[in-house]
Amino acid sequence: MSTILEPGIAPTTKPSAAITPERLLAQLQWRYATKQFNPDLRIPGKTWEALEKALVLSPSSGGLQPWKFVIVTDLELKRRLHPDPRQEAQVLHSSHLVAFAAKISLAESDIYRNIDRVIELRGVSRESLQPQADRQIGRLVNGPGAATVREVNAQQLHIALGNFLTSAALLGVDTCALGGIDGARYDEVLGLTELGYKTYVAAVAGYRSAEDKNARLAKVRFPEADVLIRR
Ligand SMILES: Cc1cc2nc3c(=O)[nH]c(=O)nc-3n(C[C@H](O)[C@H](O)[C@H](O)COP(=O)(O)O)c2cc1C
Repeated sequence: MSTILEPGIAPTTKPSAAITPERLLAQLQWRYATKQFNPDLRIPGKTWEALEKALVLSPSSGGLQPWKFVIVTDLELKRRLHPDPRQEAQVLHSSHLVAFAAKISLAESDIYRNIDRVIELRGVSRESLQPQADRQIGRLVNGPGAATVREVNAQQLHIALGNFLTSAALLGVDTCALGGIDGARYDEVLGLTELGYKTYVAAVAGYRSAEDKNARLAKVRFPEADVLIRR
C-alpha cells in the first residue's frame, strides 16, 4: 500500500512508488512535441481536471505561485492567439491551450496572500510566519530581488510547464510547449496586462493525429555520459 500520495502525512514506512520506473520511462519516451493534433478528439473532463490540478500543484520558489494559467478551448480565441494558418494542426486542432503568465512585480500583498494561505491551511500563527514574510518582502519587494523578480517569476512558469508536460504524458495526453508565441498578443487577447501578468510560454494538449510524422521520429537526446555528471 502506497503512502506516497497521502497529503500531509509523513510516511512511517518506506513508501512504494506510485508507478514503476519502467512505466515512467515508457511515458517519457512516448511523449513528443506534437505538431499535429487529431481535431476530433477532446481530452475527457476528468483527465483535464487532473491536469488543471497538476498545474496548481506546481512548486514555486518561496511557495509564492506568481502565475496565472489561462485555459483556452474556444476555437475563435485560439485563432486570435495564433492567426498564422500554418499553426492550424498544432494549435487549432488541439483540445486545450494553456497560456503561462507570470506576475510582473511583487507587492507586499502578494507575500501576505501566501502567508494568509499558509495560516489558513496549516493552522499556524501569524507571528511564526512573520520572519518569513519580512525576509521575502525585504528581498523581493524592497530589496535587490525586486529588479529581477519579473525574470524569476518567468522562470517559475517553466517549472509549471515541465510539470504539465510530464503529468500529461503520464495520463496519455499529447502536448507541445510553445515558446515561440507572440506574448504581447496573448496578454492583450486574454486581458492579462491589466491584471499585472505577462505571458512567456504556452502549451497545447490533445491527442496526436495519425498523420503526425514527428510521432515516429527517434527521440534525440545526448548520451547520458555527456549530460550526467556523477560525483
Ligand atoms: C520551453 C519550450 C519551448 C518550445 N517551443 C516550441 C514551439 O514554439 N514550437 C514547437 O513546435 N515546439 C516547441 N518546443 C518543443 C521542443 O522543440 C521539443 O520539446 C524538443 O525538440 C525535444 O523534443 P521532444 O519534446 O519531442 O522530445 C518547445 C519546448 C520547450 C521545452
